Amino acid sequence: MSVSEAGKRLLDLNSVFAKEHGHAPLAYVHSYGCQQNVSDGERIMGRLTAVGYDITDDTENADLIILNTCAVRENAEDRVYGRLGDLKKLKQRRPELVIGVCGCMAQLSHAAEKIRESYKHVDLVFGTFAYNELYRLLYQVRSGGGRVFEQSERPNDIDEEFVQLRGSSFQAFVPIMYGCNNFCTYCIVPYVRGRERSRAPDSVVKEVAELVRNGYKEITLLGQNVNSYSYGFSELLRRIDRIEGDFRVRFMSSHPKDASRELIDTIIDSRKICKHLHLPVQAGSDRILKAMNRGYTVDKYLETVDYARSRDPEFSLTTDLIVGFPGETYEEFCMTKELIRRVRYDNIYSFVYSRRSGTVAARMKDDISDKQKGLWLRELLLEQRETSSEWLKRFVGKVSRVLVEGEGRSGEGWLTGKNDQAVIVEFEGDKPLVGSFVDVMITTAMNWALKGRIV
Ligand code: SAM
Ligand code: SF4
Ligand code: F3S
Repeated sequence: MSVSEAGKRLLDLNSVFAKEHGHAPLAYVHSYGCQQNVSDGERIMGRLTAVGYDITDDTENADLIILNTCAVRENAEDRVYGRLGDLKKLKQRRPELVIGVCGCMAQLSHAAEKIRESYKHVDLVFGTFAYNELYRLLYQVRSGGGRVFEQSERPNDIDEEFVQLRGSSFQAFVPIMYGCNNFCTYCIVPYVRGRERSRAPDSVVKEVAELVRNGYKEITLLGQNVNSYSYGFSELLRRIDRIEGDFRVRFMSSHPKDASRELIDTIIDSRKICKHLHLPVQAGSDRILKAMNRGYTVDKYLETVDYARSRDPEFSLTTDLIVGFPGETYEEFCMTKELIRRVRYDNIYSFVYSRRSGTVAARMKDDISDKQKGLWLRELLLEQRETSSEWLKRFVGKVSRVLVEGEGRSGEGWLTGKNDQAVIVEFEGDKPLVGSFVDVMITTAMNWALKGRIV
């Protein structure tokens, strides 16, 4: 049966359901992992609403539950198994409930097998390569076809006409490419997301323009390595920058081996692109970078950093770091600490190395204990806290333009948002400001955020 035929039949099933129950069937979709996955989740919800589902955020009353999973680290997988365990009781109480697992973990055959054997209450498992097949697979389950497992070998073609149900009315994710060709030795992503495929630039520009027309204030372009966007990433940014309207643009991630001067010039010379790069360095020693297959040295990375700061001394950088890669010595770990001191990041996302079977690093000797790795991670965070509280002071006494995101952590009456450099800013204000830009005079730099008052 074709996908569109299956879509029509699902719509029929759901209108019968609505007549019988007095409301549409409810779908609960939870996305784990990175923004790319959150964006996929928005598309899945879009597709579900197009065939008559309503979305709920409560599993208790859901008729369909989909967990959109992440496989990047072991604890991401464990969380999903824990959640699936919890859902067993719900399925026993309501056998007509359909439970599905999709996303990166579902693309891994060992995980799909484990679900098949140990989580028999799961009805549907489909990997990232099969999203366009959602209607066909779901219809198969709904029409009594038993449990359905779909592990395509080849990714679906890019669907430029996708519908999506966005989680926010002012911040939007726009994927510009899928997959990854880099095969960093520790990373599972190329195995679960396939090779790089880029969306057509006209289609991306059209989507951004439409979002801006609909009042979106922040557009985040997504890809595992946006710098290898097939049609030229800097050119795409320049086209987006020419769109009229009150909005700003972010993007991630930017692989250091492909971050060019042209990219930095484009950002700095633009009107709408935030003066910030998320430039994941992963480690501060050349030997470990080589073992990770990252394709750059520390010096090459620093050249990019120095060029950005030579053009804009306040240019903001954030990064990802892994501690305890197989064979990393304490001296090599200390080189990572040195690097954060040298670069001065506004924020770091640091992770303890997690062995992913099937990757090259999984076959390397890993003799650093988890306890040791945990201690290194703490040391790293402490270093970052000290560096960032100093570095964030550059904003004090100046006005930052902030997109208000919601209630702040500083207590009642406080709001939170981010400035153009992606630094968190907290200030007192009224909730109706959420979703709009405000100018905030920065008065204090803490180690995780800035505080100020609206001017
Ligand atoms: N494509 C991005 C890049 O290369 O910059 C990274 C995407 S990955 C989903 C996000 C981060 O997860 C990586 O930058 C890395 O720090 C971390 N990561 C990936 N595999 C990991 C592993 N096996 N153990 C620990 N952290 C890992
Ligand atoms: Fe993973 Fe490396 Fe690809 Fe990033 S670039 S997704 S870390 S393989
Ligand atoms: Fe993202 Fe996790 Fe997949 S980080 S690409 S959801 S493995």
